[in-house]
Order: sequence, then structure tokens, then C-alpha cells
Amino acid sequence: MANQDDFFKKVVSHAKEYGFIFPSSEIYDGLAAVYDYGQLGVELKNNIKQYWWKSMVQMHENIVGLDSAIFMHPKIWKASGHVDAFNDPLIDNKDSKKRYRADVLIEDHIAKIEEKIEKECAKAQKRFGEAFDREQFVTTNARVLEHQKQIDEIRGRYAECMNANDLDGLKQLILDLGIVCPISGTRNWTDVRQFNLMFATKMGSVIDDSDTLYLRPETAQGIFVNFLNVQKSGRMKVPFGIAQIGKAFRNEIVARQFIFRMREFEQMEMQFFVRPGTELEWFRYWKEERLKWHLAMGIPEENYRYHDHEKLAHYANAATDIEFRFPFGFKELEGIHSRTDFDLSRHSEFSGKKLQYFDSELNESYTPYVIETSIGVDRTFLAVFSYALKEEPLEDGSTRVVLSLPARLAPYKVAVLPLVKKDGMPEKAREVVDMLKEDWMVQYDEKDAIGRRYRRQDAIGTPYCVTVDSDTLNDNAVTVRHRDTMQQERVSVEQLKGYLRERLK
Ligand code: GAP
Repeated sequence: MANQDDFFKKVVSHAKEYGFIFPSSEIYDGLAAVYDYGQLGVELKNNIKQYWWKSMVQMHENIVGLDSAIFMHPKIWKASGHVDAFNDPLIDNKDSKKRYRADVLIEDHIAKIEEKIEKECAKAQKRFGEAFDREQFVTTNARVLEHQKQIDEIRGRYAECMNANDLDGLKQLILDLGIVCPISGTRNWTDVRQFNLMFATKMGSVIDDSDTLYLRPETAQGIFVNFLNVQKSGRMKVPFGIAQIGKAFRNEIVARQFIFRMREFEQMEMQFFVRPGTELEWFRYWKEERLKWHLAMGIPEENYRYHDHEKLAHYANAATDIEFRFPFGFKELEGIHSRTDFDLSRHSEFSGKKLQYFDSELNESYTPYVIETSIGVDRTFLAVFSYALKEEPLEDGSTRVVLSLPARLAPYKVAVLPLVKKDGMPEKAREVVDMLKEDWMVQYDEKDAIGRRYRRQDAIGTPYCVTVDSDTLNDNAVTVRHRDTMQQERVSVEQLKGYLRERLK
């Protein structure tokens, strides 16, 4: 755990040191859970968004894009259920005056029991070596079964309390589990209260209650309320999807773990409208498609897992999360939900406008059902960035820090480096930069010894370094160094573009 914590600290400091992510308003001591993306961060973030947009919109003829406004009519949030139910249960410790999410305290408690199970498994693995069968062990070992029973009981009580909105029951559960405040170490808790996560603001110069607007807590509602506009103007036929990337805002009570849980973040959401009765088939399709999208980035499959929801929201008939192994454990990265006709029906009811589709093949009108795929840009950033960051031992006994990002996501694709700052090498290197920069983000660097410059490019994830040396001026060839293998190849300048294009496809 200490190791994981140390590694996570390295992720945060590396992101800052190299211009990926800065705390927001830092010279004013920062703003909790709000971050700014620096010169390299914005490139990586844009590449993630472009990868998502291309695979969802460009590669699917029946998915189109949308960019709806952040401000929307306040009734939308009544219809969607956010005004009444987008709450987190919070609890304060009277001694430390610290505020916590009651559900997070309980989840953290469960995580500690899960750690005990992991320890038992690790011990057994050591004892049995190759012959260790985890599945058999966790279903038969008495200590593991006892821990699992505890977890199931806690989960059961927690679900009962949440279903019945029983906040006293939730407090009692925290007391019964003996959960203490990590700061004060006491069990001196207040009652549990519900806290709405939407940020409210006012519109216009005349201020009264009816002017209260909310900063959208998800981009999805902008898609639902534009369903008919897009369907009619784009002559879309069910099944079809609408995709959107945009900012969302949530007044998270416990905002922690860097860009994992932020108060201002970005989502990439897609609502797929289907015939009623076909939704579970489409749910399965999107569940698989979305995992493929993650795997295509080259991160091994063992870092992902599905978490199917047993307890479904009242409007959903199937739901799963794709979880990623973050430096602090497996956590939700993306949600895939079968939302029935809940959203369109609610907006029909609240707006008085019929939001239906006439299916000419069936010769009938219906309210389409919806499969939603919803993923955070920032969480994807954290996933790929933390997976890519590595400290590698080298043959000479030293180490290098390398950010082995998938090439398509790397902020710079190529760095062009004159071996020394004289003898016409900088001029030739500038020519190479000019030749490449129309196609890719290219960085020119002439400062410091070549080895240090390679290290700098490794640390920001640049897949290729192109070095111009004294021979280049005679043979018009350069040395291409590969980030991951550190191998070098001589390539003629005329063939350089084709060589890189082949590898950066
Ligand atoms: N429209 C459905 C929806 O918004 P969600 O599970 O609340 O569902 C979807 O959010 C995704 O948005 C999450 O899987 C996560 O990647 C991202 N997300 C949610 N809250 C976030 C936060 N506070 N900070 C960063 N990302 C967040």
C-alpha cells in the first residue's frame, strides 16, 4: 500500500513537473479538486478526445455528434431526477470537523476487509507456488469465507438503507462497524444528511427563485432534449446514436485522488436510441465494444474488469461499469447503462412535447429505449498516464523515467535534436522540423547533452527522437531513436516521413 501511495505521488508530481497538470489557481493556494491542464496535458487530453470521437462518430455511420450548451432550462434537472435525487449521504466528525461521504466510509471499510482476503491469497500463493488455484482457494478457505461473509452482510445492510432512504440506519451501520474518523480517530459522528451535488447559479439581472440554473452535472441531458432535433434534421433511423464531449460539474463532498474525482471535469457520452425490446442485445454489444476501445490503446486486459450492477437504478434494466486498475486499486472508469425509455418519457411529461419516433418498418410510433456509454476524459487521462509512467533500470546501473504512452496519444510524436549546436546542424534540424510539423506535433530541442535530451523526451512520452549529426550534412540521413526499445536506426531524410507515418498509423 505504501508503495502504491508513493507511486501515486510520483504520478502527481510528474504530471506537474512536465507541464501535464497543475493545481488550479495555484498562486492563490489552489482550489480543491479543480485542475488545469498544461501545455502537454492539453495535447494528451485532446488526443484522448479525438480517439474517442473518431471511434464513436467517424467509425459509426449511425452515430452523430452534438455540442449542447452547459446552461439548460432548470426544468430539465427536475425531469431528469437530479433536483430530487442527485444526492450523496454526508456525515461530519464532530471532533475533527471533517466531512465525509457515508457511503465512502463504508466502502473504505469494505476495502480493508478485501485487503485481508488479498493477503490470505498472497500467503497461499507463496506456499503453493505454481499449483495455487485462486478460485478454489477463495471458495474454500475458512478465513476468506468469513471475510467475504462480513462484506456481503455490510453490502446488504448498506443497500437496504439506501433503498429505503434510511439515513439513521446508515449512521447506525457506521457506528456498528466501529468506523473512526481518520483525522481525529473518534466515533463522534453527526447524523447523516443528503447533500445535492449540483452547483446552482443565477441567470439575468432580475434575481428570484425561478432564475436558478444549474451547471450541468452530466452531458447526457443535452442529448436527450435534442433527440428530436437531431433525429429530424439528420433524418436518423433507429437504431442511432448521439455523441457529445463536454464539461460537467459536481460539488463532490469528498474530492480526492487527483483528477479521479473532480468538481469540474469532462465527459464523453453517447446515447444510443433503439427499438424497445432490443435494448439488452444492444447493451451487450456496447459493453463489448467499449472494452475493445480501451484494449486498443495497448494496455493489457488484466488492468480492466467489468463490474455488473446487481442493484439497478429504478429506470435501468441493465448496467455495468468498466473498472480500471488505478494506482489506488480497481475503480470505475466508464459506465454502460440500459436506461429504458425513462429519460425521453420524463422530458415528454415535463415539456409537454411528444418525444417519439415513427418506425416506418413497423408502421408505429414509440419512445425509443436508450443505451448510454459514459466515460470521463480526466479518468481516462489518469488511467493511461499512470499505466504509462515507469522507472526502468538500465544496463549501466542507472534508471530512466519513461512515459510509454500509446503513440497516437503522445503529446509530441517526434523530437528533432541537432547533436551539437554548431556546424550547420541546428539549421538542418530546423529543416527537418519544418518538413514534419504539418503532419505531427514536433518538438525541437538543442539544449544539453544528447543523453539528457533523450531522457527528457522519454519522460514526456515522445515515441521518436530524430538526431541530426555531422554525417547528416553529407549523407542526408538521420538517426531515429525509439522510446521504448531505445534502439537507433539510420533513416534517410527523404524517407523519414514515410518511415514515421508507417509507425504512427
Ligand atoms: N450520464 C451518466 C453519468 O454521468 P456517472 O457514472 O455519474 O454517469 C460517468 O459518470 C463517468 O464520468 C464516470 O464513469 C467517470 O469516468 C466520470 N466522472 C463522474 N464523476 C466524476 C468526477 N467527479 N470527476 C471526474 N470524473 C468523473
